[in-house]
Amino acid sequence: MDTLEQLVVQAEEEFRSAGDSAALENAKARYLGKSGRIADEMKQLGKMAPSARKAHGAVINGIKSRIEGALVARREQLARQQLQQRLSAESIDVTLPGRGSSRGGMHPVMKTWERVEQIFASIGFDVAEGPEIENDWNNFTALNNPENHPARSMQDTFYLDDTDAEGKRLLLRTHTSPMQVRYASSHPVPIKVIAPGRTYRVDSDATHSPMFHQVEGLWIDEAISFADLKGVYLNFVRTFFETDDIRVRFRPSYFPFTEPSAEIDVAFGSGALKGRWLEISGAGQVHPNVLRNMGIDAEKHIGFAFGSGLERLAMLRYGISDLRLFYEGDLRFLSQFN
Ligand code: FA5
Ligand code: MG
Repeated sequence: MDTLEQLVVQAEEEFRSAGDSAALENAKARYLGKSGRIADEMKQLGKMAPSARKAHGAVINGIKSRIEGALVARREQLARQQLQQRLSAESIDVTLPGRGSSRGGMHPVMKTWERVEQIFASIGFDVAEGPEIENDWNNFTALNNPENHPARSMQDTFYLDDTDAEGKRLLLRTHTSPMQVRYASSHPVPIKVIAPGRTYRVDSDATHSPMFHQVEGLWIDEAISFADLKGVYLNFVRTFFETDDIRVRFRPSYFPFTEPSAEIDVAFGSGALKGRWLEISGAGQVHPNVLRNMGIDAEKHIGFAFGSGLERLAMLRYGISDLRLFYEGDLRFLSQFN
């Protein structure tokens, strides 16, 4: 056998013994690469007499394409082998018993959200939702909370680098109160609405989490008074907790957007949290400046608002002393509510 024929046989053998594509590509380089065996043969051509060059060149090209053919064939064989291996490795035993699907359930805070909606809807309140990324105006300024006013630091928040289309600074809303502005600016009086949703603050302890939920309530009409707010809220609390054995306290407080203002605390007469006062809500009479910012005649109309924490309501309802449990995602905790 002449040396060129031998080259084909050698190449075929090496390709055959290459066990994977990396080994095959190395073998290819030895024969077909820039300084491989075929390239060596081509270099010899230059030393031959011009008359012999053409014929021998054709022979080398023939050898080269046979080696290439062997390479392609081995590549395809390797690819088929790989596929076979994968298919058998990933095969499914259809005779195994199924894993079954476990039933999901609602998060206790979401259950609280739905319950609050049902109770207020049943006494004629509309339910609205608004954006968690709010602008500075709706979250603070329109709520009588001017820029650089120290009251802003009561609700430390997360600011975004972006501004909205009107150039207003964007932030994660610290409360649902901006929904008062959004809703009242786009609906005629009388207004009766609740707006539940997520809110954010730089807060973290047993009764505060950085992401939490509030439900805003807003009632604007002509002849209502603080007594109406108190009546509605007391009725809500009794219905929500399904008990009359509960004490509700309106504690004088301060919010820039209400005057007068109160915090609403509740305590149970019995049960795990017996006698422990927990603040669940802020509330008050809507400040005339805020009514004006909503485009409402503050001489003619009067408004009452509250903003309650859904986690706090859930804590009391289920007797939970640390609100962080809601967000640890521990199924042993969460599955108790379903
Ligand atoms: C406010 O956010 C006012 N916007 C409430 C308001 C609305 C007053 C309308 C007047 C009129 P405050 O910061 O107190 O107020 O929060 C209200 C409730 O949200 C608290 O009573 C509490 O139940 C809940 N809350 C506040 N911060 C957190 C937190 N970090 N984690 C969980 N719940 C919270
Ligand atoms: Mg408060």
